[in-house]
Amino acid sequence: MRTKMVAGNWKMNKTLQEGVALATEIKEALKNQKPACEVVIATPFIHLATVSQVIEGSPIHLAAENCADKASGAFTGEVSAAMVRSTGAEYCILGHSERRAYYHEDYAILREKVLLALENGLKPIFCIGEVKEEREANIHEQVVKDQLEGSVFNLSAEDFAKVTLAYEPVWAIGTGLTATPEQAQEMHAYIRSLVEKKYGKQVADDTTILYGGSCNAKNAAELFANPDVDGGLIGGASLKAPDFCTIIAAR
Ligand code: PGA
Repeated sequence: MRTKMVAGNWKMNKTLQEGVALATEIKEALKNQKPACEVVIATPFIHLATVSQVIEGSPIHLAAENCADKASGAFTGEVSAAMVRSTGAEYCILGHSERRAYYHEDYAILREKVLLALENGLKPIFCIGEVKEEREANIHEQVVKDQLEGSVFNLSAEDFAKVTLAYEPVWAIGTGLTATPEQAQEMHAYIRSLVEKKYGKQVADDTTILYGGSCNAKNAAELFANPDVDGGLIGGASLKAPDFCTIIAAR
């Protein structure tokens, strides 16, 4: 069974107090709403342990936005997958385009992070997507294929089944430029076909593929109506509880 999901990616926003307030507001709103999909919020590391307590007894699941590519030891400032898991977080976003672009996370580093996340009981939400120039050059499918082959297609079928994919065209992130429902469906179907080639039809049918990139309360329903778009990874619009809850209701 394919899980439908709406995940919020807070990025580097909200102090601890503001984050607790936002998580509380979402929890309260969902009491009446009864979400029909898996709801996840991904918060900065320092929020995780506290937010984990805030959302207890609610349908909200917790994610980190990153984890280290090393298991433990002398890596000042890093946060390991085991540490993330110990907060109560269940998911970990990996491969976000901001991490790839600003922190030089390449295929090999991401492969390590995915393995460490899985070893420590975290389910990766693995992001892939092309930049504007790549789409204009019509190589967007190849880019996404390389990203999958570079960092997650090394996994066993059993481990791959724990991975949620998020297609996030970089040109759509934070720009207000959303992929059209047709563009999203076309790419999601392509991604699913790659998963099928690698792992077979059952795994492909069960793989959750989220869309991310300026998905908001207004356009979510139209995007989610596509058969291969299983939900969304939401940045800006996840920072306002009413908008985030409207997106959840659209799924
Ligand atoms: P956005 O970000 O919704 O603000 O475009 C999405 C993401 O980067 O995950």
